[in-house]
Amino acid sequence: MNIQFDEKNRVFKLDTEHTSYVMAVVDNEGFLGHVYYGAKISDTDVAYLLRTDENPMVPSKNNRDRSSFLDTFPMEYPGNGVGDYRESAIAVLDKNGHSAVQFFYRSHQIFDGKKKIPGLPASFAKETECQTLEIVTEDPVLGLEAVLVYTVFAGSDVITRSVRVTNHEAETIALTKVMSASFDMDAEGYEMLTLHGSWARERQIEQRPVGYGKQSVSSVRGESSHQEHPFVALVSKDATEDQGKVYGVHFVYSGNFLAQVEKNQFDTLRVMMGIHPQDFCWELKQNETFYAPETVLVFSGNGLGGMTRNLHDFYRSHMIRSPYKNKKRPILINNWEATYFDFNTEKLIAIAKEAKKCGIEMLVMDDGWFGRRNDDNTSLGDWQVNEEKITGGLKHLVDEVNVIGLQFGIWFEPEMISPDSKLYEKHPDWAIELPDRTPCRSRNQFVLDLSRKEVRDYVYEAVASVLRSANIAYVKWDMNRQLTDLGSSFLDEKHQGELMHRYVLGVYELQERLMTEFPDLLLENCSGGGARFDPGMLYYSPQIWCSDDTDAIERLKIQEGTALIYPLSAMGAHVSDCPNHTVGRVTPFATRGNVALAGTFGYELDITKIPEEDRKLIPEQTAMYHKYNDLVREGDYYRIASYAKNHEYDCYEVVSKDKKEALVTFVQVLNRPNYHSRRICLKGLQPDRNYQIEGDKGVYHGDTLMHAGINIPNMWGDFQSVLIHVKAAE
Ligand code: GLA
Repeated sequence: MNIQFDEKNRVFKLDTEHTSYVMAVVDNEGFLGHVYYGAKISDTDVAYLLRTDENPMVPSKNNRDRSSFLDTFPMEYPGNGVGDYRESAIAVLDKNGHSAVQFFYRSHQIFDGKKKIPGLPASFAKETECQTLEIVTEDPVLGLEAVLVYTVFAGSDVITRSVRVTNHEAETIALTKVMSASFDMDAEGYEMLTLHGSWARERQIEQRPVGYGKQSVSSVRGESSHQEHPFVALVSKDATEDQGKVYGVHFVYSGNFLAQVEKNQFDTLRVMMGIHPQDFCWELKQNETFYAPETVLVFSGNGLGGMTRNLHDFYRSHMIRSPYKNKKRPILINNWEATYFDFNTEKLIAIAKEAKKCGIEMLVMDDGWFGRRNDDNTSLGDWQVNEEKITGGLKHLVDEVNVIGLQFGIWFEPEMISPDSKLYEKHPDWAIELPDRTPCRSRNQFVLDLSRKEVRDYVYEAVASVLRSANIAYVKWDMNRQLTDLGSSFLDEKHQGELMHRYVLGVYELQERLMTEFPDLLLENCSGGGARFDPGMLYYSPQIWCSDDTDAIERLKIQEGTALIYPLSAMGAHVSDCPNHTVGRVTPFATRGNVALAGTFGYELDITKIPEEDRKLIPEQTAMYHKYNDLVREGDYYRIASYAKNHEYDCYEVVSKDKKEALVTFVQVLNRPNYHSRRICLKGLQPDRNYQIEGDKGVYHGDTLMHAGINIPNMWGDFQSVLIHVKAAE
């Protein structure tokens, strides 16, 4: 990693292990141009790529006669309303009602380490592990300063970017858009890869050609969402898992976002990521600063797999802070699909006892333990234990579970308020609502106005006092509805446009406080399944519930899309009962276990009621978790075959960093009668090393296993699967 500034030519060059990112300052006015991003290059002075010689219409030289410079120059942080008709990265509402803004280079600073972004999650690294460039730009007319922040990390091909905007004028100004990153590049036939979904269908991979005009994915739902994901990749047409160029852009934020690619008249692309400008308006008084969240950029010359492994390593080393990040997580059993709201102390104890016998290590009590919550219409906000269900109180239950030998975890949905709750009776104005409009209910609940400090304090104390009252090792922090009716009874008319972002900052503040008071707590974020599965949340919780869809076959697609950009150690995955509660499919218990093994691993079923032949498999599965989890959690992930693409089978592999061990998971989804075995080629092994496959006497070189491959016999029965354990021969 290295950051250089070539004074003579005014060129910035950021180098990671295998990539370079180049910017240059042109003209006396100080336009900052994006020169190059891609595979590592040796030269610094490559500003000729900016094509200024072909188009010398720099405004200061042409008497501002032509707008073509502004509309074609590859801007590093494009302004608004002064001649660049492509998407702007920033827009304002000034004292005259004008939206124009344009930034020019003024100064810069290069230093070791990386500053925190106040109030926001962001990547971190030791001073010796990263270097930061801050470029100070200014709009001299508005007295507005934008500092563009870039960090490179040792041993990683990731570059992070963020922006902070400060108002130096006495007049207040409003920011109506602040994107976190933007860069321009030649189109070269790239395709756009995004993740889309819905409840129970999160993060499905889609790839499409980039056409002229703007194409985007976004969320205006107040969270990163089930529907679209704060991620976009540009993928060269010929790219595969192993080769081709891939640019990944990922947003470290859990609220509204816009990820956009725009192809213009001259076949250049403008790629952008940031908070969605819809409904956004942020007032900046004199000397106030707005901090835009961080964006993670990654370039891989080795196809999608190269991008994946880079992001996995980056998030494991530089985003997840939890002490659990390099540790086995306790195998948990959650009572949601087991009992839904119909449970009590007795039932939970019975589950815990049976679970203990099978090697399960933690009981998680899900929704329904508080207030009068016997269905999902009531009591959110009333976080007092319902002693009619939890007889003897929470501490008694937790102590009993601990005596059985299990840890205890609990579910909360802290950001919500039920209209049928004591909290709402007392504080109806704490809900986000618009005066005189009937608010939209979703799951019969409203969202709390976390822009208000008193609300945040109430929520925090409600959660913390429960945690202080008993020996609770784990929290599942849920969020089951998206924001609508954007009105805050706390913010005045000039600040209503700040509600969505202030809400997200409120969530971050709450989770920061929680992890500060309870540093050893294992936190799992969740949002109606996986609607808030994003790098921002990973900063607070090392794992996130992937989806409410626990069907092993549906999970193949959900987990493939999730694992494309997130480490397996972050994916909440459980074995559940059949017929599956979401799709009604029946799959072998062994396959459910094999698929859940690719995530955090646990159970979501009534262990006292499932068929005996299934229960008997649990001790084997929990032993298997202990055998493989270090490898799964810390190894390199390779995608071998995708059921979403071939509609027949799924196959992926995890290889240890020292290449001495690998685990291949193969799931046969389509059972073709009278069919021969399927050939798969392993990946990531050491070519000249000898390996053995567990259960097979043969010894094979890595190159044989990788290039010639192995045969997986056609399996009898629906949805069969097999684990192949490969170890370096002694
Ligand atoms: C959400 C979660 C589930 C469960 C329910 C409880 O849907 O994703 O796992 O906790 O809420 O209401």
